[in-house]
Amino acid sequence: MLKLLVTGGAGFIGGNFIHYMLNKYKDSQIICVDALTYAGNMETLEAVLENPSFKFIKADISDREIIYKVFEEEKPNIIVNFAAESHVDRSIESPSVFLQTNVMGTQVLLDACRKYGIDRYHQVSTDEVYGDLPLDRPDLFFTEDTPIHTSSPYSASKAAADLLVQAYHRTFKLPVTISRCSNNYGPYHFPEKLIPLMIANALNNKHLPVYGKGENVRDWLYVEDHCSAIDLIIHKGRIGEVYNIGGHNERTNLEVVKTIIRELGKNEGLIKFVKDRAGHDLRYAIDPTKIHNELGWLPQTTFDEGIKKTIQWYLDNRKWWENIINEEYKNYYEKMYGRR
Ligand code: NAD
Ligand code: DAU
Repeated sequence: MLKLLVTGGAGFIGGNFIHYMLNKYKDSQIICVDALTYAGNMETLEAVLENPSFKFIKADISDREIIYKVFEEEKPNIIVNFAAESHVDRSIESPSVFLQTNVMGTQVLLDACRKYGIDRYHQVSTDEVYGDLPLDRPDLFFTEDTPIHTSSPYSASKAAADLLVQAYHRTFKLPVTISRCSNNYGPYHFPEKLIPLMIANALNNKHLPVYGKGENVRDWLYVEDHCSAIDLIIHKGRIGEVYNIGGHNERTNLEVVKTIIRELGKNEGLIKFVKDRAGHDLRYAIDPTKIHNELGWLPQTTFDEGIKKTIQWYLDNRKWWENIINEEYKNYYEKMYGRR
């Protein structure tokens, strides 16, 4: 039986993954461990809290004692680690917590896996570990062989975690896999990230702060397609391997923002070009050939469909994101954008 430990499941992608897996594997057991930082939200898990196949444990992945206890008591056979500090801008302001959670937290999970024994540890990594690609070379893509070359404290911490995962595989024969996905979007996305921030601001008729000239390119993937890829990797992916995940959906930030404005019937006058992000990566673009050839994965949702579905979700679930725009969020917003 599938006894899955999902860390960071009260966040954006982990939450979507829990819904996806509980829906698909009716006889599975899922234990979610989440520290409920500013990014964790129990409302994301509301629909499954009463499900007997689901259990929530509030815990920090870098707390060795509690994590060992969870492994001892729950005996999970597959671990999927989503738990992380995930926002690049915050990592520029305060890097330490990124190292604590993303590196030290990963190490505690790996040690727990060694101590208690598991069938698979899967690390949810990111394409940001490859650094960036130039804007004038659309022929270049990230493959699994692209060298690690990080730009922000966030991506450096994710790369460090990947190297640890690979070291535990080589040295201790831990059965691991790693996935490196491009930018996700969809339901339950915290409104500090580009797409949900622009949707929330546009709905509130606030400025839409575009960094630099809005020329940077991201490769967008609907979150459910990321979930289906991880599901395939944990069941069929080869131990010790890295899989890139992406669907060839490259857009400049300005294109994305203008699409949101158009879909919401708002005015482009809301756009405000602001000071660029320090060390801002120019372009991300994934070559997903390996996961397609080996595991048969293909994304199901185009950007045009996905962005419509996402906007509709934010319209239908105003309470979810309006609850987030609280005092703490307003302080964050003022600090990041107030004098930008
Ligand atoms: P998120 O910030 O929305 O969620 C992170 C979750 O982890 C939150 O629920 C938070 O409470 C929890 N968490 C943070 N620190 C913790 C700790 N010390 N112990 C336990 N839980 C903790 O992030 P996301 O966007 O859902 O990203 C999930 C994972 O996917 C991350 O590892 C990220 O690097 C990776 N990733 C994200 C994207 C993207 O576009 N969002 C793309 C590729 C990879
Ligand atoms: O590529 C995967 C990564 O995608 C993940 O590993 C990260 O966890 C995730 O946050 C995301 O990183 P980005 O930095 O690409 O995402 P973000 O939404 O912060 O920014 C997307 C682009 O939009 C980026 O070029 C910066 C720009 N931007 C962002 C914000 C928040 C703006 O122009 N204005 C903004 O207000």
